[in-house]
Amino acid sequence: MSQELRAVEWTGNGLALIDQTLLPHRTQIVDVRDVDTLVDAVRRLVVRGAPAIGAAGAYGVAIAVLQGAREGWSEAEVRAAVARVREARPTAVNLMVCVDRVMTRFAEGLDAVLAEAAAVQREDVEANRAMGAAGADWLLKRVGEDRPLRVLTHCNTGALATAGWGTALGVIRELHARGRLEVVYVDETRPLLQGSRLTAWELVQEGIAHYVQADGAAAGTILRGQVDAVVVGADRIAANGDTANKVGTVGVALACADAGVPFLVAAPTTTVDLSTATGADIHIELRGEEEVLEWAGVRTAPTGSRGHNPAFDVTPGRLVTGLVTERGVLEVSAGELPGDRMR
Ligand code: MRU
Repeated sequence: MSQELRAVEWTGNGLALIDQTLLPHRTQIVDVRDVDTLVDAVRRLVVRGAPAIGAAGAYGVAIAVLQGAREGWSEAEVRAAVARVREARPTAVNLMVCVDRVMTRFAEGLDAVLAEAAAVQREDVEANRAMGAAGADWLLKRVGEDRPLRVLTHCNTGALATAGWGTALGVIRELHARGRLEVVYVDETRPLLQGSRLTAWELVQEGIAHYVQADGAAAGTILRGQVDAVVVGADRIAANGDTANKVGTVGVALACADAGVPFLVAAPTTTVDLSTATGADIHIELRGEEEVLEWAGVRTAPTGSRGHNPAFDVTPGRLVTGLVTERGVLEVSAGELPGDRMR
């Protein structure tokens, strides 16, 4: 994927979002000029990934201000519209953090709001570059410098999930750029296939060797010694290092702990929520049953079955070997807790 292709782009009077529900077979842009369209896009995963929805939320404040001016809203109505954007999805804390940051400039008017949203976007790319380098350094030191690494990842954490470059996928891209990557095992990431549709698509654009595998294959691939390290992203990290990420992540972490394979979480500091003490306090989004009972709109489970569809799970901090942010690496399972080191 070229650096020019952005998941979230301000056009001057609205947001252009790549519709990630249609990738990899169709590249279609959703033109967002009003709050309802933005909230719907975030909920349907047109735009997704914690930092990307943070950036979309940041510009969402500008969309609410512009719509309010067009439609004669009171300030209270604009603020209520911003609150709807802020609450469009509950788990990724980036959405709330980025909306709140931009709202600190609300009283200064549209130009200030847009400047702050642009800063959110720019700083996310810078953070991703920094954590990519720090994460690659840490992995190479930990796993060994003697041969290229075989890395497993879950969900999509690349340019599509961020303002650019990627978090976990940024670490992987950095390893590739250094000639230190052999292959990536890409979990397909049921039920919405962010791995097989989006991560694989980004890796194809980058010319990075990879296998797509069923989520159920991950533990076996790790226990059979085919993986040197796992790198994943995060949607919210509690003060004690407990990490919410795409459902299926905790099983991968358990396999890593059993096999002695490093489990690295890559996320910007905007994903670290020091006001949340432990993973038990993280709101896990429960999505519609149809996502697990149907395939491409066709019912696969028998009539009478109910679906259980948590979008995320929580990996306990004791299973997180490393947490890399733009500030460097914390060895969480060894006792370097975000709540102690990042306040
Ligand atoms: O439901 P999604 O696709 O928004 O979930 C995304 C993830 O779980 C990612 O791993 C996480 O947001 C990190 S993205 C850099």
